[in-house]
Amino acid sequence: MPGGVSSPVRAFRAVGGEPIFIKRGRGSHIYDEDDNEFIDYVCSWGPLILGHSHPQVVEALKRAVERGTSFGAPTELETTLARIIHSAMPSVEMIRFVSSGTEAVMSALRLARAFTGRNKIVKFAGGYHGHSDGLLVRAGSGVATQCEQSISTMKNEEGIPDVPGVPPGYALNTLVAPYNNPTAIEQLFENHAEEIAAIIVEPVAANMGVVPPQPGFLEHLRSLTQKSGALLIFDEVITGFRVSYGGAQELYGIIPDLTCLGKVIGGGLPVAAYGGREEIMSLVAPSGPVYQAGTLAGNPLAMTAGIETLQILSQDGIYTQLEEKSSLLEKGLASSCNNTLVARGGIPVSISRVGSIITVFFTSEPVIDYDTARCADIELYGRFFHHMLEQGIYLPPSQFEACFVSLAHGDEEIRATVAAFGRTLRALNES
Ligand SMILES: Cc1ncc(COP(=O)(O)O)c(C=O)c1O
Repeated sequence: MPGGVSSPVRAFRAVGGEPIFIKRGRGSHIYDEDDNEFIDYVCSWGPLILGHSHPQVVEALKRAVERGTSFGAPTELETTLARIIHSAMPSVEMIRFVSSGTEAVMSALRLARAFTGRNKIVKFAGGYHGHSDGLLVRAGSGVATQCEQSISTMKNEEGIPDVPGVPPGYALNTLVAPYNNPTAIEQLFENHAEEIAAIIVEPVAANMGVVPPQPGFLEHLRSLTQKSGALLIFDEVITGFRVSYGGAQELYGIIPDLTCLGKVIGGGLPVAAYGGREEIMSLVAPSGPVYQAGTLAGNPLAMTAGIETLQILSQDGIYTQLEEKSSLLEKGLASSCNNTLVARGGIPVSISRVGSIITVFFTSEPVIDYDTARCADIELYGRFFHHMLEQGIYLPPSQFEACFVSLAHGDEEIRATVAAFGRTLRALNES
């Protein structure tokens, strides 16, 4: 296995050292093959909003597996999950289930191009939308740490692939703008208005670390796309059912044309989806000519985990609980900073949070886009990561990722995390 892993960031290349191999997880804890215990803030990169092995999800899965693991034919489970998603996100009038976020985004873009009859798409620097060819252009997440070279010398607009193996032609229709910069995006539309099929955006950027949208930014994207006849696609693979039950579109009150979902909607099993206005989605085969298919799409086990998870999330007060836990963590981390480093002129730390996604950036700059995120001290993040790991706290092994708080994180775990953070800051300050 290249790097010994099935997905690059897991290999710890961004922080150094050897990855830990996980044997099992329960609640907010994971256990490695040597039976070391960690409080987990990766939570499978977001899906496990209920924590590991939630009993209700596990029981439902046991029952589902007895009935059969895959049929390649329609099931009522798909309709049930579709209805739940539609009731949470009314903009998703029709939906198609797929198996990964990469697939969801790739398919949504094909659909946007077919609907508008235009070829170009706009993405934001540091935004990650999966690993399809046309989207590996100034991409965040694992690509951000893998591809340090050449990025800073590139002009915003250039559709130059970040990685070898992507023919330049595949990226020529990808235009790139800095996140949170209305002027740059206006410029792109001035130059290419008639050619732009869609803007694809993480409404809360979470793959360059967490970077919230500045007031008015998403509204601006909505009005520009509406004026030019392009579609607005919200990539809510991370934010959907995470920053609120109705996702970022509910939190910020913006209605996109298409939405990509993943992670939480599968409750830890491989599920993703794209959906949106009926007029657009009706073009998807077999209703329409835009071909897209999948052998395991809508898999009954995956649908079951998704349904159980969303049913729990729909209960009253759940997101208030999640907010309280996340805010407790943020306040604890912030007060550790005040008590140790920042007040004494030590290493500057900037904490960024929206709901239950949070990033500790080692930078004095306010982080508003990819360039400011990349000012963070990644070598220091690596040392921070290992100090925390030694104290039993498992954080994302890269500066350019989010920590995920789950409903299973109790006050005790959060207090232990804050205490470890304080000790780590002191150790880093002294070293
Ligand atoms: C915003 C966003 N979109 C798309 C993807 C791709 O999803 P997957 O890894 O399931 O292909 C990710 C993955 O982290 C993501 O964060």
